[in-house]
Amino acid sequence: MKRPFAQLSGTGGYHPARVVTNDEFSKMLDTSDQWIRERTGIRERRISSKEETNACMAKAAALQVLEQNGLTPEQVDAIVYATASPDRLLPSAACDLQAILGAKNAAAFDVGAACAGFVYALNVAEGLIASQQAERILVIAAEKLTSIMDWTDRSTAVLFGDGAGATLMTPSDGTRGILSSYMKSDGTLAELLYRPGGGAAHPPSPELLTDHSYYIQMAGREVFKAAVLSMADACDHALQRAGLTSDDIDLLIPHQANIRIIEATAKHAGMPMDKVYVNVDRFGNTSAASIAIALDEAVRTGRVTPGMTIMLVAFGAGFTWASTVVKW
Ligand code: ACO
Repeated sequence: MKRPFAQLSGTGGYHPARVVTNDEFSKMLDTSDQWIRERTGIRERRISSKEETNACMAKAAALQVLEQNGLTPEQVDAIVYATASPDRLLPSAACDLQAILGAKNAAAFDVGAACAGFVYALNVAEGLIASQQAERILVIAAEKLTSIMDWTDRSTAVLFGDGAGATLMTPSDGTRGILSSYMKSDGTLAELLYRPGGGAAHPPSPELLTDHSYYIQMAGREVFKAAVLSMADACDHALQRAGLTSDDIDLLIPHQANIRIIEATAKHAGMPMDKVYVNVDRFGNTSAASIAIALDEAVRTGRVTPGMTIMLVAFGAGFTWASTVVKW
């Protein structure tokens, strides 16, 4: 059997209603709209309310894509869920979603690959379909990152946002679907972008909050350099494995962390910016959800239409990076 094994059948997305502009951060922190826009490209981000849990946002996105496919939650075979900010540490976010969706016939598990999580999850779901273990897989990426970021740290607080995206992975109809995929990691660099405390090695204690080790910590400049190199590597491998060149790609949808990283990735791939999807200005970095949200928006607004060839490229904590080429 040859690729494509699996296709993405529709998309869903959810954005919290509350919009927080850079100017609001400049009232709380020693920062400015100009600094944030020039260094990151971010103008505003969505921040969830207490009621907008990770699972609630995921459910809203999931229901949209199920409705597009005329399916009920009981018809889902598996839920593969990418997140770095689950509502609780045990059980998985996927099991919480399985329960509130009523997807009573689904297997459910999380994929932990930070900002590369959605692309990792697509690749895992493709494998389940290729090995004939499942036929209707909800691939979810949802983040409530603002609950694990340090609101007193200007070098990270201004970067992140919340939201969710979803797709349904089904067997390919033979004309469309995943043409290639690539995943890579380098755990030796984990401490350039991580949450030091709160896990089994450093269980919750009052000190975790006072020394800020409960929150995301990042060496921004080093992460920036690694992101540029890794996203370039991911583009090269996805194209090579698909037997394509960048001229064959109609739209590049990169992880939305920083406009300068996106521009460097596009330049490396030899793609003009009008063939690159950008929404980091409106949503900030929503980690695993970023590409899922961008894909949903691109489909809804007609930037992605049937027959197009698109490339998704991601990089995140771990470090992890991944890519896939998809015939839509
Ligand atoms: N406002 C004003 N000044 C700031 C701010 C801010 N919000 N944040 C940092 N600065 C200051 C720093 O303190 C520093 O000051 P100093 O020179 O006096 O020490 C100066 O700005 C420069 O800091 P850098 O960190 O070198 O700035 P840089 O140009 O690298 O931009 C940024 C920082 C935006 C974080 C960038 O490095 C970046 O985007 N990194 C990658 C982030 C990323 O891609 N993450 C991906 C994965 S995220 C995930 O997996 C959850």
